[in-house]
Amino acid sequence: MPKLRTVAVVAGAALLARRAMRRRIQASPLWPMPALEEPVSGRPRSRSLRLLVTSREEVAEGVVRLRLEGRELPGWEPGAHLDLVLPSGLVRQYSLCGDPEDTSSYTVATRLVPDGRGGSREVHEQVREGMELEVRGPRNRFPLVRAESYVFVAGGIGITPVLPMLRALPDDVEWRLVYCGRGRASMPFVEDVEKLGRDRVTVVEGLPDLDALLAGVPEGAAVYCCGPEGLMAAVQERFPSVHLERFTPRASGGDAFEVELRRSGRTLTVTADSTVLAAVRAELPDTLYSCEQGFCGTCQQRVLEGEVDHRDELLTDAERGDSMLICVSRARGERLVLDM
Ligand code: FES
Repeated sequence: MPKLRTVAVVAGAALLARRAMRRRIQASPLWPMPALEEPVSGRPRSRSLRLLVTSREEVAEGVVRLRLEGRELPGWEPGAHLDLVLPSGLVRQYSLCGDPEDTSSYTVATRLVPDGRGGSREVHEQVREGMELEVRGPRNRFPLVRAESYVFVAGGIGITPVLPMLRALPDDVEWRLVYCGRGRASMPFVEDVEKLGRDRVTVVEGLPDLDALLAGVPEGAAVYCCGPEGLMAAVQERFPSVHLERFTPRASGGDAFEVELRRSGRTLTVTADSTVLAAVRAELPDTLYSCEQGFCGTCQQRVLEGEVDHRDELLTDAERGDSMLICVSRARGERLVLDM
């Protein structure tokens, strides 16, 4: 009996905390909440913490959820992500999918991509309970904006930033979710989202018929999408102002150009489907890099000549004046000269 009472008290407290957060979100004149403050120049750009992995659990086929514990952790809002520094030094971003009210732990989930760039494989194969991991952030570039209603489209692991958003939305706000995946067994948190409102959630196993599923989206609705690139492109085609969360680099795409490495005396061609980093590493294999997504800053290089198409979200305007992140950014013209 006392145990039951404890469970009820804890559940009640969690409910009250969620309601309090909803009220704050609703009442805030600043909604969406501002991103957490970050230094404008110099590193580290965001706080770095060492947290203990206290739980590692398979929550769907090929998906593990990690709970990382610490004390008085920086707060976050739904949509935020964390940079995880993996044991090898690779840095990867994962959406926070736990409770923003919990200041003693962060929760993230990651899907194994066997032929990916190595980050998810490392999480699945090497990260264990009891390990310490360095994290940076949280940062939010996918905030919940104020809207009359909401439509969410999530594909597979793309449900992770959406889940805290659904939990945070005030009860009287209209929303619906289209959640797509190969099959329920591989779709994380499918039961959690259904519990939030079965009549509002459509689970699609296999290819979604977006025209049918997204018919009748009301005027003024905010549309959010996170998932595979193909799904996001298809939703964006139908809703150009969709809010997207993307964790894969968009470094390639554009015209080919030349890069002169002045100190090395070499000139390289960066093709439309490649990156400056890949071209440079083919000549200088020891060139440092980590995230390959324009957020860690490891690959920053000084630009001596040429105009840069900056595609990162890290450098300040002052830094962009004479440097670039070569993993994602490209030339605006036909040629760049780097101090390498
Ligand atoms: Fe991380 Fe380029 S490797 S910003």
